[in-house]
Amino acid sequence: MSNSTIRQAAEALAQARSVAILTGAGVSAESGVATFRGTDGIWSKMKPEELASFDAFLRNPALVWEWYLHRKKLITETKPNPAHYALARLEELVPDYTLITQNIDDLHRRAGSRNILELHGNITRSFCIDCGKQTGDVALGEMGELPKCVYCGGLIRPDVVWFGEILPQDALDGADRAARRAEVFIVAGTSNVVYPAALLPRTAKLNGATVIECNIEHTPLSEYADFILEGKAGDTLPQLVAMIERTMAR
Ligand code: OAD
Repeated sequence: MSNSTIRQAAEALAQARSVAILTGAGVSAESGVATFRGTDGIWSKMKPEELASFDAFLRNPALVWEWYLHRKKLITETKPNPAHYALARLEELVPDYTLITQNIDDLHRRAGSRNILELHGNITRSFCIDCGKQTGDVALGEMGELPKCVYCGGLIRPDVVWFGEILPQDALDGADRAARRAEVFIVAGTSNVVYPAALLPRTAKLNGATVIECNIEHTPLSEYADFILEGKAGDTLPQLVAMIERTMAR
């Protein structure tokens, strides 16, 4: 990543009144949360249809809960990294700022970001499959007893989007609106292969936004990006935000 690339990207951001960001698993990689694709990715070790689908849940809810409670424990033990903090700081600098994330790990919120749209849900929440009511923290009872709804007795499931499920409409609509009005759209730590999230930077670009990609490798988006900040998000995003602050102070 050259200094002039980061400076130009920072100048575009310093002038923008409306900024949207799309983040993916790469932003949490430096916190120790595994990504999905790649040699060490979650999907290289397990089949999504066996653990991350509603059919899998109905077939064996105890197994699915064990997997999600294990992931939740790992995630609870991690901390936000400099990429999360940089994006939280950026929110304080931009009048209209929307952070759209595919991550379910709650690390953006823990880092202080406020205007967050979660496209794939959040592992810290759960809801009843019968009455739809949200529930607080859940645990498996002794003997693997499943969490049940206190209102109707229905099975409780993690509030995450599984394969074959549609995304939460409010979050998706909000993300689409933010992409359309963004003057700058940052895409960080995502392989840009999962739809509809991967459409958002393209929508932004078609509506005139400057697109900045932060990733350790090229993705299908790279050919459309105006600026590519190659490197770890925990390095590039803090550098970018520091440069914006310097540009704004001039
Ligand atoms: P992926 O695992 O597909 O992609 C992670 C991206 O992060 C890759 O492009 C890596 O090159 C990049 N990366 C890794 N470490 C990085 C770092 N330190 N800094 C910057 N970039 C880094 O994850 P997502 O794109 O988030 O969906 O995957 C999208 C969706 O696919 C997930 O939300 C999940 C999965 O199936 C559901 O579970 C519904």
